[in-house]
Amino acid sequence: MNSIQPSSGNRWRGIIHEYRQYLPVTDKTPIVSLNEGNTQLVRADNFVEAINGNCELWLKYEGINPTCSFKDRGMTMAVTKAVERGAQVVVCASTGNTSASAAAYAARAKLKCVVLLPNGKIALGKLAQSLMYGATTIAVEGNFDEALRIVRELGETGKVEVVNSINPARIEGQKTASFEICDQLGRAPDFHFLPVGNAGNITAYWRGYKEYHAAKKSDRLPRMFGFQAAGAAPIVDGKPVGEPNTVATAIRIGNPASWPQATAALKDSKGFIDKVTDEEILAAYKLIARTDGIFVEPASAACLAGLIKCVKAGKIPEGSVIAATMTGHGLKDPDNAIKTAGFEPIVVEAKKEAVMKVIGL
Ligand code: F0G
Repeated sequence: MNSIQPSSGNRWRGIIHEYRQYLPVTDKTPIVSLNEGNTQLVRADNFVEAINGNCELWLKYEGINPTCSFKDRGMTMAVTKAVERGAQVVVCASTGNTSASAAAYAARAKLKCVVLLPNGKIALGKLAQSLMYGATTIAVEGNFDEALRIVRELGETGKVEVVNSINPARIEGQKTASFEICDQLGRAPDFHFLPVGNAGNITAYWRGYKEYHAAKKSDRLPRMFGFQAAGAAPIVDGKPVGEPNTVATAIRIGNPASWPQATAALKDSKGFIDKVTDEEILAAYKLIARTDGIFVEPASAACLAGLIKCVKAGKIPEGSVIAATMTGHGLKDPDNAIKTAGFEPIVVEAKKEAVMKVIGL
């Protein structure tokens, strides 16, 4: 018996335990969890003030998950189902977060993990994660879409379990973020803002909101507002992008796997999808850190850049309740953070006077 932690009741045990009646598991399913989920929903009034908004903005801070992104919600389900089916090897293509998550959950489940990454286009922290968790890490000379094509082909051999969001278990796990938001707010938001890459998350959130509404756990359905990076905006532009490019490497995707599902979510929810430039992304990325002390990765900031655009365009009625997913932690991408901060440490002699001078005292 562990005398420190309570044995039941108030201890969070991960999204499968907490939301099991909404998930495809049975009492016999061998759950692989790192106690993901239960992430903070933080109100960001300073940011709203800075952008001259007139709304309630709630940030779902998914960067505090075990591998520092929202992917852990889907990965606990995907790896759990892989173990249940007796798989030995899990494989994914990734822009860095899916691979970090797959590598961690596979380690815990004692499965072999193979990740395919676009060579040279992965944020440093994410690369460190996949290596540290011990995944076989393959840098493909191509982009995410090409890596995913190879992974699909590997899946067809029947020898590996694909844990990209084309695996339905991933979407099931990720939808629990909507449940949490409704539980935390005591209602569903009027709008849900999120970045869109491979389009799994917008699909998952919409499913979650609909299921909770049908179960009478929430009183309304939000409008889903998605944002792509201007250099990787196939859904907005209405055609695949052969050579996607953006500073937000997490969403550097030209042909999203869940494109039709995302289109359906946008239509059903009376939603909206738009693109934001790298400059707009980096401005929002810096602003949310400086105004509210929330450090996210550039891809996450794409939806904040989108909010700035929407507020300017008068698209948000006064007093609206908005939830926005901060998909990944800022520490994942130290290179962009240091470049974007706009200044460097000030080197001084090891003397009080030298420090006082810098402070201006
Ligand atoms: N934000 C971050 C930080 C991401 O890592 C991703 C996707 C997204 C947003 C977009 O979510 O793909 O469900 O539309 N990252 C994937 C990966 C592609 O491989 O880590 P999506």
